[in-house]
Amino acid sequence: MHETTRKPAFPEDFHWGVATSAFQLEGSPNADWSTWDPVLSDIPEITNHYTVFREDLKLLKELGVNSYRFSIEWSRIQPRPDTWDEEAIAHYQEIIDILRSYNIEPMVTLHHFTHPKWFLERTPWHQTASIEQFLRFTEKMVSTLKNVRYWITFNEPYVILIGGYLDGCTPPGLRDVPRSLVALKNIFTCHGKAYDIIHRYVPDAQVSIAHNMSVFAPWKKWNPLDRLLKKSANYFYNHSIINAFRTGVFIVKFPFSRAVEIEVPIKDKLDFFGVNYYTRIHLRFNPFKKMGVELRYSDIDGHGLTNLGWEVHPRGLAKVLRYASRLDVPLIITENGIATHDTEEKVKYMKRHVDVVERCLKDGLDVRGYYYWTLIDNYEWLQGLDARFGLYKVDFKTLKRSPTSAATYYAYLIQSRSRI
Ligand code: BGC
Repeated sequence: MHETTRKPAFPEDFHWGVATSAFQLEGSPNADWSTWDPVLSDIPEITNHYTVFREDLKLLKELGVNSYRFSIEWSRIQPRPDTWDEEAIAHYQEIIDILRSYNIEPMVTLHHFTHPKWFLERTPWHQTASIEQFLRFTEKMVSTLKNVRYWITFNEPYVILIGGYLDGCTPPGLRDVPRSLVALKNIFTCHGKAYDIIHRYVPDAQVSIAHNMSVFAPWKKWNPLDRLLKKSANYFYNHSIINAFRTGVFIVKFPFSRAVEIEVPIKDKLDFFGVNYYTRIHLRFNPFKKMGVELRYSDIDGHGLTNLGWEVHPRGLAKVLRYASRLDVPLIITENGIATHDTEEKVKYMKRHVDVVERCLKDGLDVRGYYYWTLIDNYEWLQGLDARFGLYKVDFKTLKRSPTSAATYYAYLIQSRSRI
Protein backbone atom coordinates (compact mmCIF):
# COMPACT_ATOMS: atom_id res chain seq x y z
CA MET A 1 0.00 0.00 0.00
CA HIS A 2 1.23 3.50 -0.72
CA GLU A 3 2.41 5.34 2.41
CA THR A 4 -0.11 8.18 2.08
CA THR A 5 -3.17 5.91 1.83
CA ARG A 6 -2.55 3.81 4.90
CA LYS A 7 -4.23 4.47 8.22
CA PRO A 8 -1.47 5.13 10.75
CA ALA A 9 -1.41 3.19 14.00
CA PHE A 10 1.04 5.57 15.63
CA PRO A 11 -0.40 7.70 18.44
CA GLU A 12 -0.31 11.47 18.04
CA ASP A 13 2.35 11.93 20.71
CA PHE A 14 4.57 9.14 19.40
CA HIS A 15 8.24 10.08 19.66
CA TRP A 16 9.83 10.16 16.23
CA GLY A 17 13.46 10.75 16.93
CA VAL A 18 17.08 10.20 16.21
CA ALA A 19 19.69 9.15 18.75
CA THR A 20 23.34 10.12 19.09
CA SER A 21 26.04 9.98 21.73
CA ALA A 22 28.39 12.84 22.56
CA PHE A 23 31.71 11.03 22.37
CA GLN A 24 30.94 9.40 19.04
CA LEU A 25 30.34 12.83 17.51
CA GLU A 26 32.73 15.09 19.33
CA GLY A 27 35.39 13.04 21.16
CA SER A 28 36.85 14.45 24.37
CA PRO A 29 40.51 14.74 25.41
CA ASN A 30 39.64 13.82 29.00
CA ALA A 31 37.72 10.66 28.21
CA ASP A 32 39.17 7.19 28.81
CA TRP A 33 38.27 6.20 25.25
CA SER A 34 40.31 9.00 23.64
CA THR A 35 43.52 7.09 24.30
CA TRP A 36 42.01 3.62 24.18
CA ASP A 37 41.50 3.54 20.41
CA PRO A 38 44.56 4.71 18.39
CA VAL A 39 42.30 5.72 15.46
CA LEU A 40 41.22 8.68 17.52
CA SER A 41 44.67 10.24 17.68
CA ASP A 42 44.28 11.26 14.01
CA ILE A 43 40.80 12.67 14.40
CA PRO A 44 40.26 13.53 18.08
CA GLU A 45 37.30 15.82 17.43
CA ILE A 46 35.67 13.23 15.16
CA THR A 47 32.92 15.20 13.35
CA ASN A 48 33.67 18.46 15.17
CA HIS A 49 30.09 18.43 16.42
CA TYR A 50 31.11 20.17 19.65
CA THR A 51 31.83 23.29 17.59
CA VAL A 52 29.26 23.04 14.81
CA PHE A 53 26.41 21.61 16.88
CA ARG A 54 24.05 24.46 16.00
CA GLU A 55 24.26 23.52 12.33
CA ASP A 56 23.80 19.84 13.13
CA LEU A 57 20.73 20.54 15.23
CA LYS A 58 19.16 22.26 12.23
CA LEU A 59 19.24 18.88 10.50
CA LEU A 60 16.79 17.63 13.11
CA LYS A 61 14.37 20.32 12.02
CA GLU A 62 14.87 19.30 8.42
CA LEU A 63 13.95 15.73 9.31
CA GLY A 64 10.85 16.80 11.19
CA VAL A 65 11.60 14.69 14.28
CA ASN A 66 9.80 15.64 17.49
CA SER A 67 12.40 14.16 19.84
CA TYR A 68 16.17 13.86 20.05
CA ARG A 69 18.22 11.55 22.22
CA PHE A 70 21.76 12.71 22.93
CA SER A 71 24.29 12.23 25.70
CA ILE A 72 26.34 14.42 27.95
CA GLU A 73 30.07 13.78 27.90
CA TRP A 74 30.89 13.34 31.58
CA SER A 75 34.62 13.93 30.98
CA ARG A 76 33.89 17.41 29.61
CA ILE A 77 31.69 18.32 32.57
CA GLN A 78 34.06 16.99 35.21
CA PRO A 79 37.55 16.90 33.71
CA ARG A 80 39.03 16.48 37.21
CA PRO A 81 37.30 15.07 40.30
CA ASP A 82 37.09 18.49 41.94
CA THR A 83 36.32 20.59 38.83
CA TRP A 84 32.97 21.30 37.21
CA ASP A 85 33.38 22.94 33.83
CA GLU A 86 30.58 25.49 33.76
CA GLU A 87 31.15 26.29 30.09
CA ALA A 88 30.64 22.68 29.16
CA ILE A 89 27.43 22.62 31.21
CA ALA A 90 26.24 25.78 29.41
CA HIS A 91 27.05 24.09 26.10
CA TYR A 92 24.70 21.18 26.77
CA GLN A 93 22.06 23.57 28.13
CA GLU A 94 22.24 25.45 24.85
CA ILE A 95 21.53 22.22 22.98
CA ILE A 96 18.44 21.71 25.14
CA ASP A 97 17.31 25.30 24.60
CA ILE A 98 17.71 25.02 20.84
CA LEU A 99 15.75 21.76 20.83
CA ARG A 100 12.96 23.35 22.86
CA SER A 101 12.85 26.30 20.45
CA TYR A 102 12.35 23.76 17.64
CA ASN A 103 9.64 21.94 19.64
CA ILE A 104 11.83 18.89 19.90
CA GLU A 105 11.71 16.91 23.15
CA PRO A 106 15.20 16.27 24.53
CA MET A 107 16.08 12.84 25.89
CA VAL A 108 19.37 13.04 27.79
CA THR A 109 21.68 10.06 28.36
CA LEU A 110 23.98 10.52 31.34
CA HIS A 111 26.37 7.67 30.59
CA HIS A 112 27.05 6.44 27.06
CA PHE A 113 30.13 4.20 27.48
CA THR A 114 32.82 6.84 28.20
CA HIS A 115 34.20 8.07 31.54
CA PRO A 116 36.57 10.77 32.65
CA LYS A 117 40.06 9.26 32.75
CA TRP A 118 40.32 9.92 36.48
CA PHE A 119 37.18 7.92 37.15
CA LEU A 120 38.57 4.68 35.77
CA GLU A 121 41.97 5.30 37.34
CA ARG A 122 40.57 5.96 40.83
CA THR A 123 37.15 4.40 41.18
CA PRO A 124 36.30 2.00 38.35
CA TRP A 125 32.92 0.30 38.48
CA HIS A 126 34.11 -2.63 40.58
CA GLN A 127 34.81 -0.26 43.47
CA THR A 128 32.01 0.90 45.73
CA ALA A 129 33.25 4.50 45.54
CA SER A 130 32.19 4.55 41.87
CA ILE A 131 28.60 4.88 43.04
CA GLU A 132 29.18 8.14 44.87
CA GLN A 133 31.09 9.59 41.92
CA PHE A 134 28.41 8.81 39.38
CA LEU A 135 25.68 10.10 41.66
CA ARG A 136 27.55 13.39 42.20
CA PHE A 137 27.69 13.82 38.44
CA THR A 138 24.02 12.88 38.11
CA GLU A 139 22.92 15.32 40.77
CA LYS A 140 25.00 18.11 39.26
CA MET A 141 23.40 17.55 35.86
CA VAL A 142 19.86 17.15 37.05
CA SER A 143 20.03 20.14 39.36
CA THR A 144 21.58 22.38 36.69
CA LEU A 145 20.11 21.43 33.33
CA LYS A 146 16.68 22.90 32.83
CA ASN A 147 13.76 21.65 30.76
CA VAL A 148 14.60 17.97 30.47
CA ARG A 149 11.94 15.38 31.23
CA TYR A 150 13.36 12.26 29.59
CA TRP A 151 16.51 10.80 31.14
CA ILE A 152 18.48 7.67 30.35
CA THR A 153 20.88 6.89 33.19
CA PHE A 154 23.00 4.25 31.39
CA ASN A 155 23.25 3.27 27.79
CA GLU A 156 23.56 -0.51 27.54
CA PRO A 157 24.87 -1.50 30.99
CA TYR A 158 25.39 -5.11 29.85
CA VAL A 159 27.56 -3.93 26.97
CA ILE A 160 29.66 -1.91 29.44
CA LEU A 161 30.10 -5.04 31.56
CA ILE A 162 30.75 -7.48 28.73
CA GLY A 163 33.23 -5.19 26.97
CA GLY A 164 34.98 -3.85 30.05
CA TYR A 165 34.88 -6.82 32.44
CA LEU A 166 34.40 -10.07 30.48
CA ASP A 167 35.78 -9.64 26.98
CA GLY A 168 38.22 -6.88 27.88
CA CYS A 169 37.89 -5.05 24.56
CA THR A 170 36.71 -1.79 26.16
CA PRO A 171 37.93 0.21 29.18
CA PRO A 172 38.89 -0.85 31.81
CA GLY A 173 39.89 -3.87 29.70
CA LEU A 174 39.46 -6.60 32.33
CA ARG A 175 38.51 -10.23 32.00
CA ASP A 176 37.43 -10.86 35.51
CA VAL A 177 34.12 -12.53 36.36
CA PRO A 178 34.02 -11.72 40.12
CA ARG A 179 34.73 -8.05 39.44
CA SER A 180 32.13 -7.98 36.66
CA LEU A 181 29.51 -9.02 39.21
CA VAL A 182 30.53 -6.27 41.62
CA ALA A 183 30.51 -3.78 38.75
CA LEU A 184 27.03 -4.96 37.78
CA LYS A 185 25.80 -4.37 41.31
CA ASN A 186 27.38 -0.91 41.43
CA ILE A 187 26.11 0.23 38.03
CA PHE A 188 22.56 -0.86 38.74
CA THR A 189 22.70 0.59 42.24
CA CYS A 190 23.61 3.85 40.54
CA HIS A 191 20.60 3.52 38.27
CA GLY A 192 18.25 2.95 41.20
CA LYS A 193 19.61 5.88 43.18
CA ALA A 194 19.87 8.15 40.14
CA TYR A 195 16.20 7.38 39.42
CA ASP A 196 15.29 8.83 42.82
CA ILE A 197 17.58 11.84 42.44
CA ILE A 198 16.13 12.69 39.04
CA HIS A 199 12.59 12.46 40.38
CA ARG A 200 13.50 14.66 43.31
CA TYR A 201 14.47 17.49 40.94
CA VAL A 202 12.06 16.72 38.10
CA PRO A 203 8.90 15.24 39.59
CA ASP A 204 7.33 14.40 36.22
CA ALA A 205 10.56 12.92 34.83
CA GLN A 206 10.55 9.82 32.65
CA VAL A 207 13.59 7.73 33.50
CA SER A 208 15.01 4.51 32.07
CA ILE A 209 18.13 2.80 30.87
CA ALA A 210 18.65 1.95 27.19
CA HIS A 211 19.11 -1.80 27.04
CA ASN A 212 20.68 -3.51 24.07
CA MET A 213 18.39 -6.40 23.15
CA SER A 214 19.11 -9.05 20.54
CA VAL A 215 17.57 -12.26 19.37
CA PHE A 216 19.78 -15.33 19.36
CA ALA A 217 19.84 -18.47 17.25
CA PRO A 218 21.86 -21.69 17.42
CA TRP A 219 24.61 -21.76 14.79
CA LYS A 220 23.48 -25.28 13.84
CA LYS A 221 19.89 -26.00 14.74
CA TRP A 222 20.60 -29.72 15.20
CA ASN A 223 23.40 -29.11 17.70
CA PRO A 224 22.10 -29.38 21.30
CA LEU A 225 25.07 -27.42 22.65
CA ASP A 226 24.36 -24.51 20.30
CA ARG A 227 20.71 -24.65 21.30
CA LEU A 228 21.62 -24.60 24.97
CA LEU A 229 23.86 -21.63 24.38
CA LYS A 230 21.08 -19.79 22.58
CA LYS A 231 18.76 -20.40 25.51
CA SER A 232 21.32 -19.18 28.05
CA ALA A 233 22.18 -16.09 26.01
CA ASN A 234 18.54 -15.20 25.58
CA TYR A 235 17.93 -15.61 29.29
CA PHE A 236 20.96 -13.56 30.29
CA TYR A 237 20.92 -10.83 27.68
CA ASN A 238 17.20 -10.18 27.47
CA HIS A 239 15.38 -11.66 30.42
CA SER A 240 17.66 -11.39 33.45
CA ILE A 241 17.50 -7.61 33.31
CA ILE A 242 13.73 -7.55 32.87
CA ASN A 243 13.39 -9.88 35.86
CA ALA A 244 15.71 -7.68 37.92
CA PHE A 245 13.60 -4.59 37.27
CA ARG A 246 10.56 -6.59 38.39
CA THR A 247 12.07 -8.16 41.48
CA GLY A 248 15.20 -6.25 42.49
CA VAL A 249 17.34 -9.38 42.08
CA PHE A 250 19.68 -10.33 39.25
CA ILE A 251 20.01 -14.05 38.77
CA VAL A 252 23.17 -14.67 36.77
CA LYS A 253 23.73 -18.23 35.58
CA PHE A 254 27.06 -19.40 34.25
CA PRO A 255 27.23 -22.75 32.45
CA PHE A 256 28.21 -25.61 34.76
CA SER A 257 28.13 -23.52 37.94
CA ARG A 258 25.60 -22.36 40.51
CA ALA A 259 23.47 -19.32 39.74
CA VAL A 260 24.53 -16.11 41.47
CA GLU A 261 21.90 -13.84 42.99
CA ILE A 262 22.65 -10.15 43.27
CA GLU A 263 20.28 -7.77 45.00
CA VAL A 264 19.99 -4.30 43.48
CA PRO A 265 17.71 -1.40 44.40
CA ILE A 266 16.01 -1.14 41.01
CA LYS A 267 12.65 -2.76 41.53
CA ASP A 268 10.12 -0.64 39.61
CA LYS A 269 12.70 2.13 39.03
CA LEU A 270 11.58 2.65 35.46
CA ASP A 271 9.06 5.02 33.90
CA PHE A 272 9.51 3.48 30.47
CA PHE A 273 11.93 0.95 29.05
CA GLY A 274 14.46 1.92 26.39
CA VAL A 275 15.20 -0.81 23.85
CA ASN A 276 18.17 -0.64 21.48
CA TYR A 277 17.73 -3.23 18.76
CA TYR A 278 19.92 -3.95 15.75
CA THR A 279 20.30 -7.60 14.78
CA ARG A 280 20.15 -11.34 15.44
CA ILE A 281 23.18 -13.28 16.63
CA HIS A 282 24.05 -16.93 15.95
CA LEU A 283 26.01 -18.76 18.63
CA ARG A 284 28.09 -21.88 19.05
CA PHE A 285 30.39 -23.33 21.68
CA ASN A 286 34.02 -22.96 20.71
CA PRO A 287 36.62 -23.58 23.42
CA PHE A 288 39.20 -21.62 21.40
CA LYS A 289 37.18 -18.40 21.53
CA LYS A 290 37.01 -15.92 24.39
CA MET A 291 34.53 -17.12 27.00
CA GLY A 292 34.09 -20.32 24.94
CA VAL A 293 31.49 -18.77 22.65
CA GLU A 294 31.67 -17.92 18.97
CA LEU A 295 29.29 -15.29 17.67
CA ARG A 296 28.18 -14.86 14.12
CA TYR A 297 26.20 -11.80 13.12
CA SER A 298 25.27 -12.91 9.59
CA ASP A 299 22.53 -15.41 8.83
CA ILE A 300 23.31 -18.98 7.84
CA ASP A 301 23.63 -18.30 4.11
CA GLY A 302 25.57 -15.12 4.59
CA HIS A 303 22.61 -13.03 3.41
CA GLY A 304 21.49 -9.85 5.00
CA LEU A 305 24.97 -8.50 5.63
CA THR A 306 25.60 -4.88 6.37
CA ASN A 307 29.08 -3.48 6.38
CA LEU A 308 29.50 -4.44 10.04
CA GLY A 309 28.42 -7.92 9.03
CA TRP A 310 25.18 -7.68 10.98
CA GLU A 311 22.12 -9.53 9.80
CA VAL A 312 18.97 -7.56 9.03
CA HIS A 313 16.26 -9.26 11.07
CA PRO A 314 13.26 -6.98 11.66
CA ARG A 315 11.09 -9.74 13.17
CA GLY A 316 13.48 -9.82 16.09
CA LEU A 317 12.37 -6.34 17.07
CA ALA A 318 8.81 -7.58 17.64
CA LYS A 319 10.18 -10.44 19.72
CA VAL A 320 12.26 -8.27 22.03
CA LEU A 321 9.44 -5.74 22.41
CA ARG A 322 7.19 -8.56 23.50
CA TYR A 323 9.81 -9.68 26.03
CA ALA A 324 10.12 -6.14 27.35
CA SER A 325 6.36 -5.72 27.62
CA ARG A 326 6.55 -7.96 30.72
CA LEU A 327 7.77 -4.86 32.52
CA ASP A 328 4.36 -3.22 32.21
CA VAL A 329 5.81 0.18 31.38
CA PRO A 330 5.73 2.03 28.05
CA LEU A 331 8.43 0.95 25.62
CA ILE A 332 10.60 3.27 23.57
CA ILE A 333 12.96 2.07 20.86
CA THR A 334 15.89 4.22 21.87
CA GLU A 335 18.12 3.00 18.99
CA ASN A 336 17.69 1.12 15.73
CA GLY A 337 19.82 1.51 12.66
CA ILE A 338 22.13 0.04 10.08
CA ALA A 339 25.70 0.76 9.03
CA THR A 340 25.97 0.74 5.28
CA HIS A 341 27.27 2.82 2.41
CA ASP A 342 24.22 1.71 0.44
CA THR A 343 21.53 4.19 1.38
CA GLU A 344 18.79 2.18 -0.32
CA GLU A 345 19.61 -0.59 2.16
CA LYS A 346 19.27 1.98 4.91
CA VAL A 347 15.85 3.04 3.64
CA LYS A 348 14.69 -0.58 3.47
CA TYR A 349 16.00 -1.34 6.95
CA MET A 350 14.20 1.64 8.43
CA LYS A 351 10.94 0.92 6.65
CA ARG A 352 10.94 -2.76 7.64
CA HIS A 353 11.61 -1.96 11.30
CA VAL A 354 9.02 0.83 11.45
CA ASP A 355 6.52 -1.59 9.86
CA VAL A 356 7.25 -3.99 12.69
CA VAL A 357 6.64 -1.24 15.24
CA GLU A 358 3.35 -0.46 13.56
CA ARG A 359 2.29 -4.10 13.72
CA CYS A 360 3.25 -4.23 17.39
CA LEU A 361 1.09 -1.17 18.06
CA LYS A 362 -1.82 -2.81 16.28
CA ASP A 363 -1.26 -5.89 18.44
CA GLY A 364 -1.63 -3.72 21.51
CA LEU A 365 1.98 -3.24 22.62
CA ASP A 366 2.53 0.09 24.34
CA VAL A 367 5.34 1.48 22.16
CA ARG A 368 5.78 5.22 22.53
CA GLY A 369 8.76 6.07 20.37
CA TYR A 370 11.29 5.16 17.69
CA TYR A 371 14.75 6.74 17.52
CA TYR A 372 16.82 6.07 14.45
CA TRP A 373 20.55 5.55 15.09
CA THR A 374 21.96 7.96 13.98
CA LEU A 375 21.87 11.53 12.72
CA ILE A 376 25.23 11.88 10.98
CA ASP A 377 28.04 9.39 10.36
CA ASN A 378 30.19 9.14 13.47
CA TYR A 379 32.90 7.17 15.24
CA GLU A 380 31.84 3.58 15.86
CA TRP A 381 33.35 1.98 18.98
CA LEU A 382 36.37 -0.08 17.94
CA GLN A 383 35.29 0.02 14.27
CA GLY A 384 36.48 3.51 13.44
CA LEU A 385 34.89 5.78 10.89
CA ASP A 386 33.71 3.38 8.24
CA ALA A 387 30.49 2.21 9.88
CA ARG A 388 28.07 4.52 8.12
CA PHE A 389 25.03 4.68 10.37
CA GLY A 390 24.17 8.31 9.55
CA LEU A 391 21.10 9.71 7.87
CA TYR A 392 23.55 12.40 6.79
CA LYS A 393 26.83 11.36 5.30
CA VAL A 394 30.01 12.91 6.70
CA ASP A 395 33.11 13.38 4.56
CA PHE A 396 35.77 12.84 7.23
CA LYS A 397 38.31 14.90 5.29
CA THR A 398 36.25 18.07 4.92
CA LEU A 399 33.72 17.23 7.67
CA LYS A 400 30.97 18.30 5.29
CA ARG A 401 27.55 16.77 5.98
CA SER A 402 25.23 15.80 3.11
CA PRO A 403 21.80 14.20 3.26
CA THR A 404 21.40 10.60 2.09
CA SER A 405 18.15 9.36 0.61
CA ALA A 406 17.53 7.78 4.02
CA ALA A 407 17.17 11.28 5.53
CA THR A 408 14.58 12.21 2.91
CA TYR A 409 12.83 8.92 3.48
CA TYR A 410 12.76 9.27 7.26
CA ALA A 411 11.22 12.74 6.95
CA TYR A 412 8.59 11.25 4.64
CA LEU A 413 7.98 8.30 6.95
CA ILE A 414 7.40 10.60 9.91
CA GLN A 415 4.95 12.72 7.92
CA SER A 416 3.04 9.83 6.47
CA ARG A 417 2.76 7.73 9.62
CA SER A 418 1.98 10.50 12.09
CA ARG A 419 -1.55 11.40 12.99
CA ILE A 420 -1.42 15.09 12.33
C1 BGC B 1 25.40 1.84 20.96
C2 BGC B 1 25.90 2.89 20.01
C3 BGC B 1 26.55 2.22 18.82
C4 BGC B 1 25.51 1.39 18.11
C5 BGC B 1 26.01 0.68 16.87
C6 BGC B 1 24.67 0.70 20.27
O1 BGC B 1 24.89 -0.49 20.92
O2 BGC B 1 24.60 2.41 21.95
O3 BGC B 1 26.77 3.72 20.71
O4 BGC B 1 27.15 3.12 17.95
O5 BGC B 1 25.09 0.38 19.00
O6 BGC B 1 26.99 -0.23 17.19
